[in-house]
Amino acid sequence: MTNSTKFTPKKAFVNSPASNGPPPASSPNGTGLPSTAPAGPLANGKPTPATLPDPDKYATVPRQHEAERKRLPIYGARQAILDAIQRNASVVIVGETGSGKTTQIPQFILEAGLAKYGGIAVTQPRRVAATSLARRVAEEVGTPLGKRVGYTVRFDDKSSPSTKLKYLTDGMLMREILSDPLLHRYNYILLDEAHERTLRTDILFGMLKEIQQTRRQMCKDRKAQWYRQRVSDEARRGSGPPAEANGTDLDLGEHAVGGAVSTDAAETISAGNGQPRFVHELKIIIMSATLDAERFAAYFDHAKILYVAGRQFPVRVYNSLEPQTDYLDAAFVASLQIHTEQGPGDILIFLTGQEEIETLEKLLTDHRALLPRDAADILICPLFAALPPAQQAKVFNPAPPNTRKIILATNIAETSITLPGIRYVLDTGVHKARGYNSKVGIESLLVEPISKSSARQRTGRAGREALGFCYRLYTEDSFMALEEDSVPEILRCNLAAAVLQLKAAGVRDVLRFDYMDRPPKLALLRALEQLYSLAALDDTGALTKLGTWMAEFPLDPCYAKVLYESRALQCTTEIIDIISLLSVDNLFVAPFHKREEANEARNKFISPDGDHLTYLNLLRAYQAVKGDIRWCHENYVNARGIQHALEVRKQLRQVCTRVGMDPNVSCGVDLDRVLQCFVTGFFHQTALLQPDGTYKSVIGSQFVRIHPASTLFNSRREAILFNELVFTTKLYVRGVSAIQANWIPEASPNYLKRGQPKSKLAPSSSIE
Ligand code: CDP
Ligand code: MG
Repeated sequence: MTNSTKFTPKKAFVNSPASNGPPPASSPNGTGLPSTAPAGPLANGKPTPATLPDPDKYATVPRQHEAERKRLPIYGARQAILDAIQRNASVVIVGETGSGKTTQIPQFILEAGLAKYGGIAVTQPRRVAATSLARRVAEEVGTPLGKRVGYTVRFDDKSSPSTKLKYLTDGMLMREILSDPLLHRYNYILLDEAHERTLRTDILFGMLKEIQQTRRQMCKDRKAQWYRQRVSDEARRGSGPPAEANGTDLDLGEHAVGGAVSTDAAETISAGNGQPRFVHELKIIIMSATLDAERFAAYFDHAKILYVAGRQFPVRVYNSLEPQTDYLDAAFVASLQIHTEQGPGDILIFLTGQEEIETLEKLLTDHRALLPRDAADILICPLFAALPPAQQAKVFNPAPPNTRKIILATNIAETSITLPGIRYVLDTGVHKARGYNSKVGIESLLVEPISKSSARQRTGRAGREALGFCYRLYTEDSFMALEEDSVPEILRCNLAAAVLQLKAAGVRDVLRFDYMDRPPKLALLRALEQLYSLAALDDTGALTKLGTWMAEFPLDPCYAKVLYESRALQCTTEIIDIISLLSVDNLFVAPFHKREEANEARNKFISPDGDHLTYLNLLRAYQAVKGDIRWCHENYVNARGIQHALEVRKQLRQVCTRVGMDPNVSCGVDLDRVLQCFVTGFFHQTALLQPDGTYKSVIGSQFVRIHPASTLFNSRREAILFNELVFTTKLYVRGVSAIQANWIPEASPNYLKRGQPKSKLAPSSSIE
């Protein structure tokens, strides 16, 4: 942050051509969504009055928000949606953010009693969305969370055998495929936020399409089998063939829809125990906030498309007249100007991540005391993926009287979470995206420009309840230069974890998998190679026992490997602790004006061996003071971050125990083992010191520098390992520790040490 940015919205923004009245859908600066439906609430099909079956049938606590539900745009489209769902195996539903897709459509299905053969799953790309939506829907349905309505996200499961409607992350549904390969427990799967095209959504698309086809075929086969059996029974009894010979109109008893055989369910006698085993078709509903429905529909065998009318007020769009050198500073100045000069309404600021959000939160909090006496108060609400649930609630609650909410959010607030009361949006024009370099084989998290489509979504957030204002902290030329849509993650990321999940889900040939957008063959081969190098795959490309173990663990394959090796190296406690701490963006806080004090405080924890052991020292010190928050403030430690890490730690320890691994095995003071253990998963993220003081990566031969935030910044060590590669002005590595160069070839079973003798560090291959 610098103070140099002279940012005056009055001068710096130009009122865009789209500023007067509702922007046309095609307007480059508009919100991108039509303000009225093509025809009626649904473009396809006329809505009929909704007849809800006894809404209180399942309510065990008072239902809430009934009136609000009925006011949502989607409510009028209820019957048309239900009709389309009943008539089609796959349906694509497009509707503006906030129209009620995620909270209402599953309830429509539930209330209409359509999910008779199994449950309803609604996938979300982000855990915050899954948990907060489940909480909201449980309130609406009138059930305690975890009963009829629940959620499952990584490290947190609020569902039970009685859960009929479950919100879960894409990743968790993929994990469920491991234990239930045809997802028999679900009748409906709603793939939400499909437009985001995250890696996991894309993999799920392919998997679900195949599951749907398999289940459909099973239904047909079982019906044919059932019919043949009936023919032979009748023949034995000496009567003629059954009335209908086409196998589609047979009475199958209680599971059949409307008394006749449904085209989506069939019953048969299973060979095993003689009990009837029921198979039913899987219904897939794809929900998206943008108008790119045709691609989804084409992929899902020409699924039916429904467009739900949104309710969108005009939004005036302003672009910065000059490029902003520091968008965080620009957002800070602009938000205060809006607060002191503009009418009521909450402000939503889009930032890239937790670290940035917390910096701005601190700046605004410090500034609160300096507000003019006659100005309203401000309430600052952060919103990011790792936010604890209690904090999440704050963004949904109305601000106290005479107070303006300023919400600092990642792109979570773009489409997955609808925030009430927003009138002003500050769009920084950037987000954090996972990038993957197929040549170097390293994955990194980059701050990147958003797409035009994202910019329009952000703009739209200002106009849900009244005329809104969107300030883009970049020039109109910059806007015009943005990509139309963001590139699907599958085309950008490291595929190792995805390929591991695909393999574990039974997909043998990942090169021929039905991807909606096929990743480059090189990247797929690289992923296979990495998994092979980690010994997760064998020479034939099949999953090894270790690979199966790794897929069970909700961790990146590299970390899963490290954790696995910690058993042989007797340092599981330390590895779990460090991995948990690495899950947090920034453990130390360094306020702009107190950088020296913060550095001094951090020095107390520094290990000469680098960041991993420094983190461990920090955790030990925190545990010694029993998690005292004051201690965190005094030592410039990110209290919220460390609490989150402890939550992850608890869950990782539980998973370890579940898979029969003792999380209490510790190496005591022999901490070299911890770093040796890390090398077993990160030998491909190591670098050797060069005479000029830089480091050259062992794989890819890239010159890298140690990031200034690392404890090893400016130090010269024989070799280093790193967790993250960051491109800023130079190629930096973060999460760095010093290692011995000879550990590197020793740590890799299949990659770097071909032909070398097995050492004591070679990973143990025994898996119980
Ligand atoms: O999925 P879509 O963007 O179409 O809308 P939704 O998430 O189903 O939201 C419908 C309505 O529920 C919006 O007006 C939200 O503000 C409200 N909602 C809420 O108040 N609290 C939540 N935790 C979730 C939704
Ligand atoms: Mg939604």
